[in-house]
Amino acid sequence: MARVVEIEGLRKIFGSVRALDGISFSVEEGEWIAIMGPSGSGKTTLINILGGLDSPTSGNAVVAGTDVARLDESGLTRFRAEKIGFIFQQFHLVPYLTAVENVMLAQYFHSTTDENEAREALKRVGLGDRLAHLPAQLSGGEQQRVAVARALINHPKLILADEPTGNLDEVNEELVLRLLRELHSEGHTILMVTHAPAIGRMADRRIELEHGRLVQITELSTK
Ligand SMILES: Nc1ncnc2c1ncn2[C@@H]1O[C@H](COP(=O)(O)OP(=O)(O)O)[C@@H](O)[C@H]1O
Ligand SMILES: [Mg+2]
Repeated sequence: MARVVEIEGLRKIFGSVRALDGISFSVEEGEWIAIMGPSGSGKTTLINILGGLDSPTSGNAVVAGTDVARLDESGLTRFRAEKIGFIFQQFHLVPYLTAVENVMLAQYFHSTTDENEAREALKRVGLGDRLAHLPAQLSGGEQQRVAVARALINHPKLILADEPTGNLDEVNEELVLRLLRELHSEGHTILMVTHAPAIGRMADRRIELEHGRLVQITELSTK
C-alpha cells in the first residue's frame, strides 16, 4: 500500500518551546487518523508542517511523495494547492467572495476554474441553494461545509482537518462528520485533530501527543 505520510524525527522549536520534539509515524493511503492530546501538545504545528504551512526545525516529512522540508515558498504554495485539502476550525473563507467563488478560488490556485464543478461540490455538501451567499450570510455549519467543498475540489492526496467541528453546533457537527465518513469510505486519506473522544473513535488509528512527543498510537478499526 502507498504511504501518503512518512515522518521521521520531526522537530519544531519556537524559541524555548519544543512544539514537536522528535515525532515519527507513517500513514497509509486511505487511512483516517485522529490526532489527540492536550492543548499546546503540538497538534496544530504537526498539521501545519504536513500541509506545508510551516517548516520543521529538523527531521523529515514526506507527504504524497514530496519532502516538504525541502520546498521553498513557491514550491510550498504549489504543494498546498495540488496535494492538500485543508479544513480549519475557523473556516477561513474569503469574506467578500460568494460560496461558489470561495470554492473556485481553490481551483484557481490549482490550475483552472470550472464553475460547474464548484457548484457540484457545493451541492454535494448540501449547499446547492446557497451558491451566491457570502460567508456572513451563512451559518457556521454552512461555512464549514463550503470549506469542505473547497478542500475537495482539487482531489487532494491528503485531507488535513484541525478541529473541524470545534465551532459547530450538534446538527452541523453531525453533517460535517457524515461528510468525513463518506470521504473515508471513498478512499480519501484524512488526518483530523479532535478533542472529542467520540469523534476520535471514528478513525482507523488514534495518535496521541503530549508536550510535542508521540505518547501512544491506538488501532481502532477492524476494516
Ligand atoms: N508561532 C509560534 N510561535 C511560538 N510558539 C508557538 C507558535 N506556534 C505554536 N507555538 C507553541 O508551540 C506549542 C504547540 O502549539 P500547537 O501546535 O498550536 O498546540 P495544539 O494545537 O496541540 O494546541 C504551544 O506551546 C504553543 O504555544
Ligand atoms: Mg491546535
